[in-house]
Amino acid sequence: MVDLKKELLKNPFVLAPMAGITDTAFRSFMREMGCGVVISELVSAHGIEHKSLRTIELTKFSEIQRPVGIQIFGEDAGVLSKAAQFIEAQGADFVDINLGCPVPKVVKKGAGSALLREPCTLNKILKQVKDSIKIPLTIKIRTGWDDKSVNAHDVVKAAADAGVSWVAIHGRTRAQGYSGRANWEYIKEVKSKASIPIIGNGDITLAKTAVDKLHESNCDGVMIGRGCLKNPWIFKQALELYQTGEEKKFDKDICHALGRLKVWVAERGDERYSTLQTKKFVSWFSSGYPGSQAFRSKLFSFKSAQEIYSYSMEYFSQFNISEQIDTSHENFLMGGHG
Ligand SMILES: Cc1cc2nc3c(=O)[nH]c(=O)nc-3n(C[C@H](O)[C@H](O)[C@H](O)COP(=O)(O)O)c2cc1C
Repeated sequence: MVDLKKELLKNPFVLAPMAGITDTAFRSFMREMGCGVVISELVSAHGIEHKSLRTIELTKFSEIQRPVGIQIFGEDAGVLSKAAQFIEAQGADFVDINLGCPVPKVVKKGAGSALLREPCTLNKILKQVKDSIKIPLTIKIRTGWDDKSVNAHDVVKAAADAGVSWVAIHGRTRAQGYSGRANWEYIKEVKSKASIPIIGNGDITLAKTAVDKLHESNCDGVMIGRGCLKNPWIFKQALELYQTGEEKKFDKDICHALGRLKVWVAERGDERYSTLQTKKFVSWFSSGYPGSQAFRSKLFSFKSAQEIYSYSMEYFSQFNISEQIDTSHENFLMGGHG
């Protein structure tokens, strides 16, 4: 059985779940690119109950990803428990419950961040799910529903009492969506009173920031989402800085990275999927490089993953890939399920 605390000590930089992005191919790629624990995008517990093929597909993973958690969402303790048992039977290392999704379709049904509003009810749900499985249960939350009900302290207490192994906190309220900045001061405060590991999350776009936030907040880990889309080397850089304390010159091997992404994306054997995913990723990777706008415009005209790789290699070989301009001030993917 995986010991998540030990995993965080080995590598405290966790890949954030992102719907439509952190599928099995991207998780495998990111593990190779140096991240610690990985978590799937959110998967509907009701979808698992109804044996929806599309949903079941989302629960699959490769061995290289271990330790890998599968994230589920739902509002009913019984349905969530059965989904958790299904995930356990699939061989995943742990189950994560999404309690941060702000999307109206999810919240209206009482799932995602809606469950944060009643820590007592949440405690009962978490207990029931935890009791139904042997593998660890983790949760991912927001700081609260809105600025009048910032209650991560209470949620963490409810989770600890239910036997939850860690709480990942995206430092914004549900009402904030993706606006403003993640509140790391509050994350630090919650961590200072928590009896279980806390993972801080929000707005980490540089390896140095990841290490600084880890130290300043005293969290057990930090979770990185959008930051690794523009800089897939961020995990390796952060781990190296964390382990050595030195910010060394880092050589980014784009040929190797694109080659590995290509392999993982091709595993599904679906050219349409490969083309789409590859376009998406290389377009994000090109942020902060000379002529990236023109590169992207042409990128979308290609019809096969192979063409995209050749075109991308040609583009990236024109300059020093290690010199990427920080574009974190630009709005980027300002919506998601957590
Ligand atoms: C496109 C997108 C999809 C997301 N999907 C999920 C999800 O399925 N489950 C979840 O818990 N959080 C999801 N999130 C939230 C991220 O895990 C993370 O909390 C958020 O992006 C803030 O971290 P970051 O600034 O490092 O990206 C998503 C975010 C984005 C941008």
